[in-house]
Amino acid sequence: MTGALLDLPEKLLPWYAANKRDLPWRRTRDPYRVWISEIMLQQTRVEAVIGYYERFLSALPDVQSLAEVQDDVLLKLWEGLGYYNRARNLKKAAQVIVNDHGGVFPQTYDALRALPGIGPYTAGAIGSICFDLPTPAVDGNVLRVIARLTALRESIDKDKTKKDVTAALRDVYQKSGACAALTQSLMELGACVCVPNGAPKCERCPLRAECKAQKDGSWTAFPVRDEKKGRRIEHRAAVLLRCGDRFALRQRPKNGLLAGLWEFPHTLLAAGAKDDDALKAALSFAETCGAKPRELIRETAYTHIFTHIEWHMHAFLLDCAAMPDSFTWATRNELESTFALPSAFRPCVDKLLTELN
Ligand code: ADE
Ligand code: SF4
Repeated sequence: MTGALLDLPEKLLPWYAANKRDLPWRRTRDPYRVWISEIMLQQTRVEAVIGYYERFLSALPDVQSLAEVQDDVLLKLWEGLGYYNRARNLKKAAQVIVNDHGGVFPQTYDALRALPGIGPYTAGAIGSICFDLPTPAVDGNVLRVIARLTALRESIDKDKTKKDVTAALRDVYQKSGACAALTQSLMELGACVCVPNGAPKCERCPLRAECKAQKDGSWTAFPVRDEKKGRRIEHRAAVLLRCGDRFALRQRPKNGLLAGLWEFPHTLLAAGAKDDDALKAALSFAETCGAKPRELIRETAYTHIFTHIEWHMHAFLLDCAAMPDSFTWATRNELESTFALPSAFRPCVDKLLTELN
């Protein structure tokens, strides 16, 4: 594969220099900042990340402050980004850097890779962007670009394919020497030109003359993927229990999905449950919790999609006569300012509490 790619920098680097977006994490080579950006960008779009990135770095400007941050403050900074273990691993890695590396960010691929939450992609990205190491950062964007360029027949979901692409790119990086710019330019091409959804913008691509998929119009065939497993569907009845000016919250278990985050109480329904079944279940659930529901104020339904599960939510705002202390009772302001509420529950606030007196 290397042979087909060795000339790539010659076209790609000038294109990147002329077309790159001005993104906050491209104004620095501070490994702390680059690390935070790369972890946020792993599952989240650039536009969505920018605000989180700036808020996070204002609150936690260096590795020391991240190592010492309270978990609830950290999760609140991460609220809405999803995949909360990313945030927990950031803190763990910061503690390792402070305790084992004297607070100085490690500067080799192997030492980066040894940190919690830092896999081959992130180690490659930090190594190349911050220290100009020949360590390619191979994510879905880069795999897509290389798969189309070379008409790659292997599935990009296989570890072996990722290793082969990484090895081929390592040769390209070594020969070129412009390691930081190569990582950024491959990412930029995948994000802006050789895009994941819809047709790639081949007419604007600096690599079109060399691209095998472009030559025979076969970009729809690449990248080859493994067959996807379907998501499990769950119906859930969620209750916003309101008593006076407070709402019931509970904290999720320390392990598993959305570990340690806050949520409105909810209960699993039988498969294929209808709105009527959901209301009945919600009322009896609230009763069992000891909340003494008096009146249904509002209801809504929405779907939240996780990687492997879909939650079909039926949510009810119930006025209650009691405040059982099995729950934490938060004011509307505290809901916004204090408790990290994952996106799966955000519509409960937006749809049930907006413009409510
Ligand atoms: N996606 C992942 N890393 C990125 C970066 N450094 N710039 C833009 N998009 C990215
Ligand atoms: Fe992707 Fe088209 Fe460029 Fe090939 S020519 S790398 S398919 S954008």
